Amino acid sequence: MSDDKIYDVPAEWRQRAWVDDAKYQEMYARSVKDPDGFWAEQAKRIDWIEPFTKVKNTTYDPHNVSIKWFEDGTLNACYNCIDRHLPERADQVAIIWEGDDPKDSKKITYQELHDEVCRMADILRNRNVEKGDRVTIYLPMIPEAVYAMLACARLGAVHSVVFGGFSPESLAGRIEDCQSKVVITADEGVRGGRKVPLKANVDAAIAKVGGVDFVVVVKHTGGAIDMDPVRDVWYHEGAAVVTSECPCEEMNAEDPLFILYTSGSTGKPKGVLHTTGGYLVYASMTHQYVFDYHDGDIYWCTADVGWVTGHSYIVYGPLSNGAITLMFEGVPNYPTNSRFWEVCDKHQVNILYTAPTAIRALMQGGNDPVTKTSRKSLRLLGSVGEPINPEAWEWYYHVVGDDRCPIVDTWWQTETGGILITPLPGATKLKPGSATRPFFGVQPEIVDAEGKVLEGATTGNLCIADSWPGQMRTVYGDHQRFIDTYFKTYPGKYFTGDGCRRDADGYYWITGRVDDVINVAGHRMGTAEVESALVAHTKVSEAAVVGYPHDIKGQGIYAYVTLMAGEKPTEELRKELVAWVRKEIGPIASPDLIQFAPGLPKTRSGKIMRRILRKIAEDDFGNLGDTTTLADPAVVDDLVTNRQNKK
Ligand code: PRX
Repeated sequence: MSDDKIYDVPAEWRQRAWVDDAKYQEMYARSVKDPDGFWAEQAKRIDWIEPFTKVKNTTYDPHNVSIKWFEDGTLNACYNCIDRHLPERADQVAIIWEGDDPKDSKKITYQELHDEVCRMADILRNRNVEKGDRVTIYLPMIPEAVYAMLACARLGAVHSVVFGGFSPESLAGRIEDCQSKVVITADEGVRGGRKVPLKANVDAAIAKVGGVDFVVVVKHTGGAIDMDPVRDVWYHEGAAVVTSECPCEEMNAEDPLFILYTSGSTGKPKGVLHTTGGYLVYASMTHQYVFDYHDGDIYWCTADVGWVTGHSYIVYGPLSNGAITLMFEGVPNYPTNSRFWEVCDKHQVNILYTAPTAIRALMQGGNDPVTKTSRKSLRLLGSVGEPINPEAWEWYYHVVGDDRCPIVDTWWQTETGGILITPLPGATKLKPGSATRPFFGVQPEIVDAEGKVLEGATTGNLCIADSWPGQMRTVYGDHQRFIDTYFKTYPGKYFTGDGCRRDADGYYWITGRVDDVINVAGHRMGTAEVESALVAHTKVSEAAVVGYPHDIKGQGIYAYVTLMAGEKPTEELRKELVAWVRKEIGPIASPDLIQFAPGLPKTRSGKIMRRILRKIAEDDFGNLGDTTTLADPAVVDDLVTNRQNKK
């Protein structure tokens, strides 16, 4: 091994884990040499109604990208997550729910989960929701979010979960794009003691786009809301008049399971489409091996179900494995900085999966809030969403994990459906900050700007050479956009949009996005989206948005704004613009810094030179590169002089 800091696999992990290093090597070699044989075997973890006879049928040919796995098999994802476990696990806890208020928690068994999901499904079925229909889910982190997702899967309806932090405007765009005729929401959400007006947001979104036949409303806080007597139905009232039985629809492996909107470098968010069979096999397998899940383990993923991490690693992965999955409504620092660790002690959590931004924020609060708790139950820690800096990794390892718990730094994306590059705790030596090695069946490649595949220790752009079962199948309603976004840059390969280094030991180190996507507190944001929100303001003539390094969020949002002629760049207007973006997209898109710029650096053909703007935002004035080709080079001096002070 190289001279990087290395943590060996503890002996007891080598023995007890599903996979040790020898087994990893053997399984990995087989997975790439004989994908059909390997995945046919792995797919046995799922119950099929009609077994498949074909395994992999995929092509990355940019003229005709087509991805199919297990294409003639049939199954139902909800059946796999619930019904098949009932003979053995009816009374076993499926979901531990921990509310925003530490006094609120409850446990839901597999039988109770079955009954609630059937009730939710019946409510939808009685209102003519059928296979293939799209249902938008806009709920807080409450068990009903899982009921709603699985109820859709049971009926073969396609869910589109929208994160509760998105604005009515963003919600409307997502309802409209997939023509949802149903929305499932709650009166209000609560996070860190603050209410989120979910139902009011749904009303505003529907007023804008229409097309929604009915809205199911979960009573959560009991706050006052408007109910439309024709369109809106309370979940508890609907559930009281249906039975707790509802048949599972037989789905083809390639029938859609869900759509999840995510930001790209251009245009509006894309509806990433995942299908049923391959996704479920992949979510289930990665959940078992990456978290080394064994029966009875208490597993907690702190993500929101509004993101892909929540889909694959709160709902589909754990529940298909008959696991106990903890769902947390709140935030890491409410009521105090000890909350995460108190939840670990209260529910005796064994496996904790969270994001670097949460780790960094808690690290700033010092060690006391951690060390005053026990955390003895913890055995494994996980990280996801953005690169974890070695300092945060070490703190997570030494202070949170008491030098006892391996950390799985898992790299993946909404598009990949499940984890692609990650340590396996019984197999992989760890290096702080590295996502280490590929999961089974995953063939990473690092290419240069021209697409040449680079060998050995190197740095470049990360591609994946061939398909894996959890891969997205298309952009909903726009297959060409799918091809253009992922398969055109480096023909014949899936391009991830990430930069990456591979070291002499073959370990992968993700360096962050190389496109116009930024990663703010683990949330993915397209700079183009923030720009179009800014220019929609009447006082803004032009805007350019870039990311800059931020101590806690990883990246912050830096906006250069040119005002309409005659408008004054005041502090008040700056605040107004921040509030405007929050209203247009949601709080996660709030610019951290706005610099008023009389002009933006452009080429003579009018293209904004983002490279220069990024360097200025990073305070890297020495590396602005060649500015002589700019239409007006003096613009740059002005920007540098007026660089906003970092907060
Ligand atoms: O840049 C990578 C970063 O998050 C991007 C994907 O974002 P999203 O689709 O929202 O999914 C996040 C949760 C899977 C990637 O392109 N990313 C995710 N995990 C890691 C990461 N960067 C470095 N290390 C990771 N472990």
